[in-house]
Amino acid sequence: MNKTEIIQWLQERDQAKLAELFLQADKVRKESVGEAVHLRGLIEASNICSRQCRYCGINADQGHSIPRYRMNLDEMKHCALLAQEYGYGTIVVQAGEDYGLTGAFITDFIKWVKANTPLAITLSLGERSEAEFRDWHEAGADRYLLRFETSDTALYQNIHPPVKGQKHHDRFEILKQLKGIGYETGSGVMVGIPGQSYDILANDILSFQNLGLHMIGIGPYIPHPDTSLGKGENIIEIPASEQVPNNQMMTCIVLALTRILCPETNLPSTTALSTLSDEGREQGLNCGGNVIMPNLTPIKYRKLYEIYPAKSCIKEDADMFNKQIKDRIEAIGRTVGTGRGDSVKFTNKC
Ligand code: 5AD
Repeated sequence: MNKTEIIQWLQERDQAKLAELFLQADKVRKESVGEAVHLRGLIEASNICSRQCRYCGINADQGHSIPRYRMNLDEMKHCALLAQEYGYGTIVVQAGEDYGLTGAFITDFIKWVKANTPLAITLSLGERSEAEFRDWHEAGADRYLLRFETSDTALYQNIHPPVKGQKHHDRFEILKQLKGIGYETGSGVMVGIPGQSYDILANDILSFQNLGLHMIGIGPYIPHPDTSLGKGENIIEIPASEQVPNNQMMTCIVLALTRILCPETNLPSTTALSTLSDEGREQGLNCGGNVIMPNLTPIKYRKLYEIYPAKSCIKEDADMFNKQIKDRIEAIGRTVGTGRGDSVKFTNKC
């Protein structure tokens, strides 16, 4: 599929044609990665962040308006054991870009998980040093997630003010570095950030393919009222007809196109999508998705990790969600994944 065709699909509003696109994506998903929906237990390890990303509710500019937390080793071990108890194959350790989560602390946790559980480990800790990426991989970390958020340089710089004294890191370079180290490498974007045109989004989707990603996270942009982007400040003005909407249908179109272009990748039906509507999770699974990330963060921390408002998992009890999600997966004719759920693309060594 070329860029013109991608843009045509992004602008398609005929429901019957879109239903065909979703069916095609579902068929590709079935043939390439099968019926299994892999469950990854999410651990939101710290809401401390040194970055000022203008869309994110836990950015450094939020200052003291939200209490900050950093989980200790015991709390993290508890989450990992919960993942094992629920039969999840993977834990995803996510946090703000918090340098207080030191390289050594993360290494200790990885070593403990590897010595005591069969879990695969995905890290999503932002832009860290190459030495840390290497140490963590050596300690046993399997995967690394770093969304590039947008392939457009001007938009990237608009929404990510540089941290004082730091040069702008090139996330495409970091992703190549991660792949080179041997990680299953994931990235992704938000759909409908102010200033994101159909042209930019088509380039994002082509970048997924060019980067040869093993995992791709795609969710709608949800404005956070306490962020400058959420307040509508300093937004890149583009004609209304070119602005990508941040709704459920558009997110599903992007998921479907991504599945068709990157057949063997792991594609989560994201929490952001399920935040827009209750049946968002199933919709994501029906148009290309094959992964769900149940939240295992202790309830007392969840509301402090509000990267966007009304996050669907904020009050969900991990135990209850675990029982419900398995029924919901089976209700749409899919199976609950067993084992680690490595990316077929990674296992095929490309
Ligand atoms: N709306 C939707 N997604 C968001 N993220 C951060 N803030 C928001 C928001 N307001 C996404 C980013 C980040 C991931 C962890 O969460 O894409 O990479």
